[in-house]
Amino acid sequence: MKSINLLTTILLILFSIPFSIGQNVTIPIETENVATVLKTDENNRLKMVYFGKSLSDGNEYNQTGDVFNFRSEGAASNNNAYAVAGIDNNFVEPAIAVIHVDGNNSLDLLYDSHTTSKTADGAILTTVTLKDPVYPFVVDLHYKAWKDKDVIEQWNVIRHTEKGNVILNKYASANLYLNNKDYHLTSYNGAWAKEMQPVETHLRQGMHTIESRLGTREHLLTSPNFMLSLDGKSTETSGTVMMGQLAWTGNFALQFETDVNKNLHIVAGINPYQSAYHLKPNTPFETPRFIYTLSFEGKGKGSRNLQDWLREHNLLDGQGERLTLLNNWEATYFDFDQDKLVSLFGGAKELGVDMFLLDDGWFANKYPRNDDTAGLGDWDVNKKKLPDGVPFLVRAAEKEGVKFGIWIEPEMVNPESELYENHPDWVIKQEQRPEIYFRSQLVLDLTNPEVQDFVFGVVDDLFTENPTLAFIKWDCNAPIFNGHSSYLERENIPQSHLYVEYSRGLQSVLERIRAKYPKVPMMLCSGGGGRSDYNLLKYFTEFWLSDNTDPLERVFMQWNYSYYYPAITMCNHVTNWSKDKSLKYRVDVASMGKLGFDIRANELSERDMKFAQQTVANYNDYKDVLWHGDMYRLVDPYENDMASLMYVNEQKTEAVMFSYLTNWRYLAETSTRPVKLKGLDKDKRYRVTEINLYEGERSPVDHQKVYSGEFLMNVGFNPMVDSYRASVVIKIESVQ
Ligand code: DGJ
Repeated sequence: MKSINLLTTILLILFSIPFSIGQNVTIPIETENVATVLKTDENNRLKMVYFGKSLSDGNEYNQTGDVFNFRSEGAASNNNAYAVAGIDNNFVEPAIAVIHVDGNNSLDLLYDSHTTSKTADGAILTTVTLKDPVYPFVVDLHYKAWKDKDVIEQWNVIRHTEKGNVILNKYASANLYLNNKDYHLTSYNGAWAKEMQPVETHLRQGMHTIESRLGTREHLLTSPNFMLSLDGKSTETSGTVMMGQLAWTGNFALQFETDVNKNLHIVAGINPYQSAYHLKPNTPFETPRFIYTLSFEGKGKGSRNLQDWLREHNLLDGQGERLTLLNNWEATYFDFDQDKLVSLFGGAKELGVDMFLLDDGWFANKYPRNDDTAGLGDWDVNKKKLPDGVPFLVRAAEKEGVKFGIWIEPEMVNPESELYENHPDWVIKQEQRPEIYFRSQLVLDLTNPEVQDFVFGVVDDLFTENPTLAFIKWDCNAPIFNGHSSYLERENIPQSHLYVEYSRGLQSVLERIRAKYPKVPMMLCSGGGGRSDYNLLKYFTEFWLSDNTDPLERVFMQWNYSYYYPAITMCNHVTNWSKDKSLKYRVDVASMGKLGFDIRANELSERDMKFAQQTVANYNDYKDVLWHGDMYRLVDPYENDMASLMYVNEQKTEAVMFSYLTNWRYLAETSTRPVKLKGLDKDKRYRVTEINLYEGERSPVDHQKVYSGEFLMNVGFNPMVDSYRASVVIKIESVQ
């Protein structure tokens, strides 16, 4: 074993010596099952010649491109590893387009060298340097490969030493070229309360783009997540499928361009919309990461790759714990005072959750935050509602044995606020044009370091005053309208830097927050699910999927999010949004993630309260499996009258299965057939127990029976879902 490690180290040292060979350099980027192969051509241009299964004999990678034969001048040269604009060897969508200091708008990028090294966090990083032969302009392509996860992170660093600023009109993170034949793209439309609605597109000709131009709340209308089946449609367990997202908190563009040979060119990066970047010499520009996995065993494996990678290598405290909670948003909206809140703390304790989360409405005095039209930006506690301040509430909650968390929306301002009165120049707006509001608010200018200090201060002041504050919900309700920054204008920085610098400003605030408060859980919320990028999940422990908490809608939404995010990140609350669904259905649906309640707990009947308490206790019992285990989607609600999913721990000794009716028609087919389980050990024997039942309720599941893993996975288990049993939660435990 030791000698293998030594060999690996020697190989890595050898590879980390820069190569500078003239021609036909082959650069494989490999994970356990996936290989991307780059190769220089006779003109020293770098091409992407292969994207598929990894090969056991690495020497064979240099022949991967040779077996393809796309003879057509023009179309045959589309497979550049980083397509440029402005020279005639490229006819496809460029990944980069620049204007040099002398006004020339051509770019050629030739292979210069490459290095491969092991990163401190255990990945293999390949960096390929491309240089323009005429201008001192360089692009370093980075590929960070996570071997056991089959995940690749791709980004670039663009730099130059010209005598002035080079204008980057386009600066994508990734450029891929795929030689498959039949591409089915799943992307996601959205709107408030309708987030993550999947749309399938058969890519056959021309350009298909998914993009955002909202600036902030950037995923409101489109998600940066995508799923691309490469050889015909894939299923949960079969087919070749690429899944991922652009990890950028801002405008993004994912472009899919199909050519005459049925090859697919992908360009992914920051949206060039209104974003020409004037790059100074010797000031490297780093693009965001384009992150993807390739699965040869369908979407299920792809999801598990991404979820594992996220928990282990990206998400803040991905291996840790989370807090269950009671939130007061839907229970009170803005209508509360100190006594009312304190009276709710008892409900949190009674339910058995870990924390009480105080939502919007607790701040601002001159323009009190009694609805969403005023006060945003004035982060002093509202004296009328809360005369004893936040510290009193924290103490009162703690007295009840629950932690205390609080809502903020620090990037935004209502025009009706002291903040707006005192700092009109801190607001993104076009001075000479009428203001445009979204939820009666505007966005603060985070390109301005003073504003960054202010936003950091909102969080820092709360923690300074309340050292035991346990949780922050960070909201963001408006996109950027009238994008203009008076700070950039003062500093003589082009306005076209606004979107990029906003995102960088936000990131730098979050870096400061995490340097001082490394682990306090923070929920990423954006007027529902308007933000959930992997970049922000480096700073946040979880995110709010949607304000739509109708449990039936949530079954579908949670299903869609589950392709890209592990359950530990997905905040699901039991609310009264849809009272026609039973409390059990609402709780069971919310349990498939990070469980919370947003109800008036004191209004629950004794029987409902007992039931809810039991479900929280059950949740505490299986949460480790749910948060850290492997997820398997079993029955797709888009193709059936129910949904079913399960989570299995690493040892395959414990699992939990959720099944939800999605069609209440008499004709619905739900309990006629068993559901085949997945991810168990075929040789283990399992006891199957129904949980989350009301006191005295009988279950058709025989708790005495023991099944082999083989039986459960091949024959299946019938949770007996029907309109009387609209949701069923099953605990599965191995027995000796
Ligand atoms: C939008 C969020 O999505 C809600 O959960 C709530 O926090 C409100 N904002 C508060 O204004």
